[in-house]
Amino acid sequence: MVDAESFIDDAVEEIREAVGEEHAVIALSGGVDSSVAAALAYEAIGDQLTPVYVDTGLMREGETEQIRDTFSYMDSLRVVAAEDRFLGALEGVTDPEEKRKVIGEQFIREFEREAKESDAEYLVQGTIYPDRIESEGNIKSHHNVGGLPDVVDFEGIVEPVRDLYKDEVREVARELGLEEIISERMPFPGPGLAVRVIGEVTKEKVEVARAACHVVEEEVEEHDPWQAFAAVIGKGTGVKGDNRVHGWIVSVRSVESRDGMTARAQELPWETLQRIQSRITGENENVARVVYDVTHKPPATIEYE
Ligand code: XMP
Repeated sequence: MVDAESFIDDAVEEIREAVGEEHAVIALSGGVDSSVAAALAYEAIGDQLTPVYVDTGLMREGETEQIRDTFSYMDSLRVVAAEDRFLGALEGVTDPEEKRKVIGEQFIREFEREAKESDAEYLVQGTIYPDRIESEGNIKSHHNVGGLPDVVDFEGIVEPVRDLYKDEVREVARELGLEEIISERMPFPGPGLAVRVIGEVTKEKVEVARAACHVVEEEVEEHDPWQAFAAVIGKGTGVKGDNRVHGWIVSVRSVESRDGMTARAQELPWETLQRIQSRITGENENVARVVYDVTHKPPATIEYE
């Protein structure tokens, strides 16, 4: 485990030295990694940093407001409302890797525009150690690694948390005084809720997934999983009132892990599972069925796509 206090001093110094008098830009995702990288960079270079948050429409419930709130002390923060453009680009796309690619490319387009406007010579990224390993091993395409530097011509890239594991990043977040909702927030994939709906990404499916994820996060919090969420995995028959309906099937997943590379499905109490089921089907009349995923990683991945 890192010594968070001295890590922060070193990281701030490293960023200051790397960026000097120039400008830097960072893509904030709402997650703990980029939040910590941004907080470190802001401490190092203040308003020479432009933090950019792209609201893809694929974020968790309340995430955009949370970002505005948490980082309101950064005068240079830019929030880009891009939901329509992301959903438009994803229309008709069903292949999982293609989805990631489309989102990655759209993200780059949005970010590139902001980066050019800010005249930044440096890119700060919240890449952590497991991201680098998975990307180097080509296990999946991470849109938050690589990509950006290829399009925008940066003088340099600064990755202050590149050698840390997730639990170490959280430790640093706490030491930095970031709010609990950020420091303790579960990991969330770069492509967002798009990988929590199987098949084409539609506004309706994303909204079902977002609301269901929120219920799961609230209900399992006391069991302290490494990651827990819900995904829309298809449609099936159910009965609502006196009618048979063809509604969404929502799968609930809660796993224990250290770094996401392997994971164990969590043994949740039946009452918790039933409460989740009852809230998800009760809050959305188009959800007909809720299932619990008992598969470890491997053989399953944590996310569904
Ligand atoms: P999988 O589904 O591959 O996920 O078992 C392992 C961990 O990585 C997260 N994940 C991502 N994180 N960009 C990210 O930053 C991505 O493209 C991405 N895909 C998956 C996932 O939520 C889990 O924590």
